[in-house]
Amino acid sequence: MSVNNSIAIDVSFKTDVHKGLTTFPKFLYSKYIYDEKGDKLFQEIMNLPEYYLTNCEFDILSLHTEEIAQLFNDPDKGFDLIELGAGDGKKTKVLLGHLAENDFNFVYKPIDISQNAIDSLSKNLSEEFPNITVEGEKGMYFEVLEQLQHYNSRKKVLMVLGSNIGNLLHPKAIDFLTKLKDIMSTQDFLFMGFDQKKDPQIVLDAYNDATGVTEAFNKNLLTRINRELGGDFNLEKFKHWEVYNPETGTAKSFLVATEAMDVAISALDLNVHFDAWETIHTEISQKYDDKVVQWLAESAGLKIHTSFEDEKGFYKNYVFKRA
Ligand SMILES: C[S@@+](CC[C@H](N)C(=O)[O-])C[C@H]1O[C@@H](n2cnc3c(N)ncnc32)[C@H](O)[C@@H]1O
Repeated sequence: MSVNNSIAIDVSFKTDVHKGLTTFPKFLYSKYIYDEKGDKLFQEIMNLPEYYLTNCEFDILSLHTEEIAQLFNDPDKGFDLIELGAGDGKKTKVLLGHLAENDFNFVYKPIDISQNAIDSLSKNLSEEFPNITVEGEKGMYFEVLEQLQHYNSRKKVLMVLGSNIGNLLHPKAIDFLTKLKDIMSTQDFLFMGFDQKKDPQIVLDAYNDATGVTEAFNKNLLTRINRELGGDFNLEKFKHWEVYNPETGTAKSFLVATEAMDVAISALDLNVHFDAWETIHTEISQKYDDKVVQWLAESAGLKIHTSFEDEKGFYKNYVFKRA
């Protein structure tokens, strides 16, 4: 773990919460949902029948494991597999198991903002696949990417699963892809999952499950502010609300204040007023089609090398190279 990254995350949590709750309309970044509790809730989400994304990507990786492994491999020097926002590695393990069993020469470098995710994944992999070299790192995408500039000695495969890119609106997604392209050499690959546009009801249900797990996940932002920044949010007074715009492909999560109230946050020396029915925008889950992915790639200086799709056509993993 990098101590500097931990400090950077704590400082930016404070700064971002202050900015988000003193702006109109209010917002909080979803990346701060993930701590030990947030990670656990996301694991529960992945097991929900409504949350189709995990199974679709799991199927893609299971069906095409050998083809993907051969694509990633460099038989002479081996390769570095760098995963951004790795979480619990549930799907990555399909590939890691295959690479380990077949003695591929590679190092796995999972990166995640959650220390808990990195610790659990590293421990878990050392037990399940003791032969794999794992170099986990806690950090935010952009900070860690800067360090990866120097990671150029052999082939790199950058991997982003779970449609994590969907947390960014298009301009920021292009910025993210451009930064990834900047650290790629011509031999490197970017392997990235993009949830596809589909029946709007299916998308809406995925972020609005019947059992309330997604609501608890969304509200973990407020729990963290209460615990880490001395906030006094009453979680009962906020409602989880999801909307999906099939024209733009953007799903948005909100927390809605059900009555007027003031919330004190001692570490920020801040009193936040909420009008009744005022919103906090918390998460974006963008949906895509081939045309949009093509446009994002071209705008970032990347080209699509190949892609893999699940049987229902709900989800795609694209493989990019430098254009
Ligand atoms: C939706 S989960 C997906 C996890 C995993 N990739 C999967 O497909 O199951 C997003 C993961 O990315 C991490 N994450 C979110 N924003 C991040 C950021 N800005 N920098 C680093 N990690 C981030 C979270 O902690 C979480 O583990």
